[in-house]
Amino acid sequence: MRATDWPAARGLLIDRRRLLGVLAATGAAVRPGAPNAACRAPSLAALAAEKGLMFGMALTREQVREAPPLVAVALAQAAMLVPGNELKWVRAEPEPGQFDFADADALVDLAHAHGLLSRGHALVWHEALPAWMGPGLTRAEAGAALSRHIKTLCSRYAGRMHSWDVVNEAIEPSGAGPLRRTPFLAALGEDYIARAFALAAEADPDAILTLNEYDLERDTEWQARRRAAMLDLLNRLVRRRVPVRALGVQGHLDPAKGRFDPEVFRGFIRAVASLGLSVFITELDITDRTLPGAVVARDRAAAEETRAYLAAALAEPAVRLVVTWGVSDAYSWVDGNPRTRRTDGLTSRPHLYDAAFRPKPLRAAVAEALRSAPARGIAR
Ligand code: XIL
Repeated sequence: MRATDWPAARGLLIDRRRLLGVLAATGAAVRPGAPNAACRAPSLAALAAEKGLMFGMALTREQVREAPPLVAVALAQAAMLVPGNELKWVRAEPEPGQFDFADADALVDLAHAHGLLSRGHALVWHEALPAWMGPGLTRAEAGAALSRHIKTLCSRYAGRMHSWDVVNEAIEPSGAGPLRRTPFLAALGEDYIARAFALAAEADPDAILTLNEYDLERDTEWQARRRAAMLDLLNRLVRRRVPVRALGVQGHLDPAKGRFDPEVFRGFIRAVASLGLSVFITELDITDRTLPGAVVARDRAAAEETRAYLAAALAEPAVRLVVTWGVSDAYSWVDGNPRTRRTDGLTSRPHLYDAAFRPKPLRAAVAEALRSAPARGIAR
């Protein structure tokens, strides 16, 4: 694609001089023209690239508006940005057939203007749905809505998305049944998944189409059921030649959910790889609700948990991409959710950078895991 094909970097939000000022203030050796390579220590993107991996970060328009230092960190550390909320259904198509891309465009343009890739999240999800997309849709209505939504989003960003989360969190939460009951399943049956992938592939043949899911890594019975359900689903899709190319493992780590056995996780990744699929870690962060309150001990435990997790994942050559679900503890979904926030009233510390945008032990753990990872072929 030629640079001139790109829409003007409208609403670019980050004034370049302001950004360079922020980088200088945080001690980065600023080299104008190359903010992504502007840190004294190698960036996480650079460490990943050395191993044929890609490293990205999710961020939101709100964060870009409010926190220039957060943006400076993301642009300096990541090779890919992921709009955290802006492409979800209720944001992108709040009314039937009425689309709003202002916020998503701003983030995709920001990434492009700094030479970073973008990834799309998420076309079909049971959360963040507008009320009109709720239960009670007829088969025809649901099919038409799915088609319009996916075609519009994928063709708008065609050629600009490294990958798309086409269906997010499709597995039944407890693992007791194969698929989660959603308005899409109710109206269209399991075929909604194949349809969503086919529509996305038609509109953007170059994006790596991904099925994204959580709670797949721990050595517990219920997560084992979820892994089995996921493998069954992937098998059915691959056998039907549905254009799914990668499994996104969200990687919201939560030690409270049970033991982590690296061999169990690696075995699962190998099973996915044997279907010809890549594996992406798409939403890495840590819920520290059962870790100690004291910051030093908590950060150490969180760092070790994350290092062990990534060491296991990155030992598998099928894993090509690691994305953190945020940048700084100043903004985290973990505290906004009663199931994930701490019960002692302390603020969670799920991210690589603290609330003042300084690197934490978690950042060092991710760097260490990337440094120790075996090299693989060129990542896409
Ligand atoms: C979260 C966002 O980070 C929050 O800002 C929002 O309020 C709720 O959604 N799994 C996903 C993400 O796939 O889309 C969710 O993101 C976190 C869990």
